[in-house]
Amino acid sequence: MFSLVDIYRDNQSIPVLSLAPCRSCRNIKQGIGSALVREGLRKCQDTGYPIVVVLGHPGFYPRFGFTPAGEKGLQLPFDALRSFMVYELSAHALDGIRGLVAYPLNLAKNRDYFYTHRWAA
Ligand SMILES: CC(C)(COP(=O)(O)OP(=O)(O)OC[C@H]1O[C@@H](n2cnc3c(N)ncnc32)[C@H](O)[C@@H]1OP(=O)(O)O)[C@@H](O)C(=O)NCCC(=O)NCCS
Repeated sequence: MFSLVDIYRDNQSIPVLSLAPCRSCRNIKQGIGSALVREGLRKCQDTGYPIVVVLGHPGFYPRFGFTPAGEKGLQLPFDALRSFMVYELSAHALDGIRGLVAYPLNLAKNRDYFYTHRWAA
């Protein structure tokens, strides 16, 4: 699911996309998870939002182009090390984007607030 989160800096906020949760059937492992991520990122390019952030396993997401977000000037309120990653939806998408990413506490509940994509299982 792709949702909206805000990046805060100097009393301003920039809306970006967040990938969470990402799940496929653990028993299948035939490329379903990868296909979902790739198709999701392709659809995200039509949204106009600049980047997608993810909190996930650093062994899984880099294959799609995600890179450590901390190295790009993005921060979380807690230390997520290399699990916090970012994907640029266009060239130079991160230019001028720095700051603190705030995940809403009710990420899974407030569906009116979020821009979501859902796929059939
Ligand atoms: C992560 C997940 C979506 C991958 O789905 P999938 O259908 O198995 O994915 P694919 O078949 O396309 O790819 C499998 C690859 O992902 C890797 N992988 C699967 N789960 C992983 C995990 N939790 N951490 C790191 N790598 C993982 C596999 O080792 C495999 O790697 P390989 O291609 O180098 O052998 C699925 O395992 C899942 O739903 N897990 C439970 C929820 C979860 O942990 N989501 C991720 C939150 S960050």
